[in-house]
Amino acid sequence: MSEKIAGLKKKFIEIYGGEEADLRVFASPGRVNLIGEHIDYCGGYVFPAAITLDSTVIARKRTDRTIRLAATDLPDRVAASLDHLEDGKSLKWGNYQLGVADELQKAGYKLTGVDMLFHDTVPLGSGLSSSAAIQLATAITLVTLGNEEHKISIPIDNVQLAVISQRAEHNFIGVKCGIMDQFASAMGRKDQAMLLDCGTLNYKYTPLKLDGYRIVLANTKKKRGLGESKYNERVSETSEGLAILKQFLPEKVHLCDVTIEEFEKYKEKIIDPIIRKRVEHVVYENARVLKSFDALQSNDLKTFAVLLKEAHASIRDLYEVTGFELDTMVEEALKVEGCIGARMTGAGFGGCTVNIVKEANVEDFIKIVGEKYSQKTGLTPEFYVCDIGEGSREII
Ligand code: GLA
Repeated sequence: MSEKIAGLKKKFIEIYGGEEADLRVFASPGRVNLIGEHIDYCGGYVFPAAITLDSTVIARKRTDRTIRLAATDLPDRVAASLDHLEDGKSLKWGNYQLGVADELQKAGYKLTGVDMLFHDTVPLGSGLSSSAAIQLATAITLVTLGNEEHKISIPIDNVQLAVISQRAEHNFIGVKCGIMDQFASAMGRKDQAMLLDCGTLNYKYTPLKLDGYRIVLANTKKKRGLGESKYNERVSETSEGLAILKQFLPEKVHLCDVTIEEFEKYKEKIIDPIIRKRVEHVVYENARVLKSFDALQSNDLKTFAVLLKEAHASIRDLYEVTGFELDTMVEEALKVEGCIGARMTGAGFGGCTVNIVKEANVEDFIKIVGEKYSQKTGLTPEFYVCDIGEGSREII
């Protein structure tokens, strides 16, 4: 047993009492999205990978229908009945977990009471899907223990857990997110990135070999503020764009079914310049994801890096979800020797950038970008040299 897990088990016993022998351990990771931003809810392709920062849960089954929640980094304690989960919507912490329990039950899963201790290493609000990590760690715990209690031997389907967790985010939290974060957390594989078609949920893995280069995540530490309402605003702007184009292309189900040629042919029909910009980002970004996948498969890091830069410009100028901090972080990164590509990752409005940096330059990169960024923004950033890890699982 690792030292970390031993410490967490001890902490669990301090909080809830009982014996270590009854404890189970589950985990689910955050993710980095390499490219394909704000197009998952348009049925587009995305290219994420699970990271090794995660949400780890120490859990023990209860014999009643109570869920108790605690976290290592928060004073909050939550107790809720599986029969009255709706009450959990108003919680500041615990709402993600109870939302998942609620949607699992609505989907027909038989759950059982459980005590849970969360230990989260994905920084909150960093654009690395700390909430999807918590959701999927909750889902895998509840379903595993519920199945055992009710003697259900059907194998657990992680894709389904991702879909149900996304539903919880829509219905319990009120963010109309796409499927990317939950899917990447549930289905991540060590050292592999996944190309996911969010329209069909078809996916394939590819080894993330960046010969001599590392992925460095740079956290702007900018708080997201109104990010959630802006997020939903973008979702509805893209639906509006689709509705307009459907008058000419009635067979299109998702905005990402529209090709670049079709967009160029009909773009003047989108009168509102804001909607037209949003659609332009979506259509071109979708094409960039496929090009990036091909580039990485053929070890063409140069092309990949160019696509990353184009993607940032597009999300900044056409989709308008970056802001001074993210733009400064990318600008400063690209000035540093050894950094060949940089862009924001995740929802935007703050959070992290993803940078491809020559291994030998990583240390200098962190130092130089950190200093320049602090000078310009007054914020102290954080950097994570990123390893690609496993998806949702029990740790035995
Ligand atoms: C958030 C959402 C995802 C996706 C990204 C932007 O992380 O949860 O579904 O839309 O933003 O690509």
